[in-house]
Amino acid sequence: MTQSTTLTVNGEKHTVDIAPDTMLLYVLRDNLGLKGPKFGCGLSQCGACTVLVGGSAVRSCVTPASSMQEQDITTLEGLGTPDDPDPLQQAFIDEQAAQCGYCINGMIMQAKSFLNEKPDPGRDEIKQALNNNLCRCGTHMRIVRAVERAAKNGAKA
Ligand code: FES
Ligand code: FES
Repeated sequence: MTQSTTLTVNGEKHTVDIAPDTMLLYVLRDNLGLKGPKFGCGLSQCGACTVLVGGSAVRSCVTPASSMQEQDITTLEGLGTPDDPDPLQQAFIDEQAAQCGYCINGMIMQAKSFLNEKPDPGRDEIKQALNNNLCRCGTHMRIVRAVERAAKNGAKA
């Protein structure tokens, strides 16, 4: 059985017919074609699927889409474009923070949520904020430097 579900994603409303227990990640990727959120573990353990809900980081792999109908959802695509990147995205580019890149979208969304709450963090606070986002390539220090750079440049939502 499916139900009609309306989601506001990157400022646009979308109505989809989905099973009531469908997780947000699959609606974003499969129904809306937004590949910014990645599937890593499906168990809320890696952070690859992170999106913003009302400016705060949420793991979309364990968030039922049906519970998000009154919320403003932002995916990586909603932050900026290749021609006009968000300052945080630009900082990740400038620091060449990606190795394979698989974790980076979730890292950016987690960092965005963090900087929304704490625009001028110290290095230890950045590390703590990203502690539960996994990177198998071990590019953590470049990621931390990117967030520091963005904070210095005043990157905010
Ligand atoms: S895919 Fe959601 S936390 Fe890993
Ligand atoms: S850059 Fe490869 S998993 Fe982080």
